[in-house]
Amino acid sequence: MELKDKFDRLADLRKESKLGGGEKRIEKQHQSGKLTARERIDLLVDKNSFEEIGAFVRHRCRDFGLDKQSFPGDGVVTGFAKIHGRPVYIFSQDFTVFGGSLSEAHAEKICKIMDLAIKNGIPVIGLNDSGGARIQEGVASLGGYAEVFWRNSMASGVVPQISAVMGPCAGGAVYSPAITDFIFMVQDTSFMFVTGPNVVKTVTHEEVTSEDLGGATAHSTKSGVSHFRTDNDADCISKIRTLMSYLPQNCEEKPPRADSKGPERAFADKIDELVPANPNKPYDIKSAIKGVVDEGSFFEVHEHYADNLVIGFARIDGRSVGVVANQPLSLAGCLDIDASVKGARFVRFCDAFNIPLVVFEDVPGFLPGTDQEWGGIIKHGAKLLYAFCEATVPKVTVITRKAYGGAYDVMNSKHIRADYNVAWPTAEIAVMGTKGAVEIIFRREIASADDREETQKRLEAEYEKTFANPYRAAARGYIDDVIYPHETREKLIRALETIQNKVDSVPRKKHDTMPL
Ligand code: HXC
Repeated sequence: MELKDKFDRLADLRKESKLGGGEKRIEKQHQSGKLTARERIDLLVDKNSFEEIGAFVRHRCRDFGLDKQSFPGDGVVTGFAKIHGRPVYIFSQDFTVFGGSLSEAHAEKICKIMDLAIKNGIPVIGLNDSGGARIQEGVASLGGYAEVFWRNSMASGVVPQISAVMGPCAGGAVYSPAITDFIFMVQDTSFMFVTGPNVVKTVTHEEVTSEDLGGATAHSTKSGVSHFRTDNDADCISKIRTLMSYLPQNCEEKPPRADSKGPERAFADKIDELVPANPNKPYDIKSAIKGVVDEGSFFEVHEHYADNLVIGFARIDGRSVGVVANQPLSLAGCLDIDASVKGARFVRFCDAFNIPLVVFEDVPGFLPGTDQEWGGIIKHGAKLLYAFCEATVPKVTVITRKAYGGAYDVMNSKHIRADYNVAWPTAEIAVMGTKGAVEIIFRREIASADDREETQKRLEAEYEKTFANPYRAAARGYIDDVIYPHETREKLIRALETIQNKVDSVPRKKHDTMPL
């Protein structure tokens, strides 16, 4: 063969590989509102930075006519590239090739980049768009999935793993994204479920559409499986890029530092007046967050799920932090099952990847009720407590108002090794709120009083003066300082700078037995 022929062969194969399942199927992909696997990668990575691995891999199946049908690349585009100038490994399933279904060879391609990612300490981003196991390959495909799941587990806590579900993701296939750190879903074009609408109908007689059962809205509001609901492919990819900007490459590194920006003036200027005088009146904790962190840097996670706890990444003086905040606007900021699990997972992620934790606390306690007790608020609440206890990253807490009961301990208190705890003058650090406390400890006195109302008011005022403030806790050193709200940002900047190289550890163990 002439040299020219050899070069031409390579060019032809490259062309064929780039075409995936062919023009017609690409057109169908576009018509259904989706980008192709390669278009997604192009949007995701820094310009011209993608290097493909395995473009010529083909399946080895000979059954059901597949010996006559094969496409170079076999339904998944894999390789490495840069995002914000830093390397990432990527796989992007190509729905135009056998519906993106996972063959043995397809799985091997994913496993190859995952092995490289773990060895080299580089994040993995998976863009999922697949009909699941390649049906014609039977158990070889199931084995392939298990190989991926195993690597997801091994990579967990070593490198950040990000999943975008940008099409179907059904059956056991959902468990790869589920093990990864963050799941993005696209409105209307993606769905995830263990069993689809037909099986659901047969087994439970419920009639439900794919979208209602496992679409982006269901998973970002009801189940909490998805961390980010996005409008379309481009929005999804842009948000993945944003997320990456807060994360280090691996568990040995610190997150990248950005240029410092002042806080958003509209919130910073009003921060002193944020907490209402009436402790039963709600306010938006996000205003406090935005009044403290670098302008435009708050990137909320799980925005539509368990909104009584706000979590997200932000920057303070250019440093990445993980924010955990009670939200008085929802359930008065009480901790419930969903909020506890949501918070625990986020705290563990931040701890695994050296992202300091900044807590804004206004919590009247754990949510009461049979739903919560029978649902296991004890074991789920324990997850959040456990996560804060075991976290060895720099940890700071700002108590804006209520810090009551067990929730006071849980929310990154001094006792569980937070490094810098401050309270605003509006803080109430006590076993419970004034009214409830007075009704319990002065029950007899109130019952026997001539003027019960007046007695109760007097006792409430007394209790408030004694306990419903930050000074008892400050006197014991449980908080380090009482500060004006407008001082918060500057004090956090100084604290985070001071504790940035904190070294702390937990006792030697194989692994913990946290209350899952
Ligand atoms: C092989 C598949 C396939 C699969 C789709 N295709 N799924 N090929 N194995 N699992 C092929 C189709 O034959 C078709 O090929 C092309 O992909 C596009 O599929 P369409 O059906 O035309 O697309 P659409 O109408 O958009 O429907 C997409 C879909 C549907 C909802 C994903 O294809 C579907 O239900 N597929 C089967 C899903 C499934 O049951 N998978 C197994 C799940 S169990 P042509 O040649 O026409 O382009 C599982 C277990 C994992 O995955 C276990 C892990 C432990």
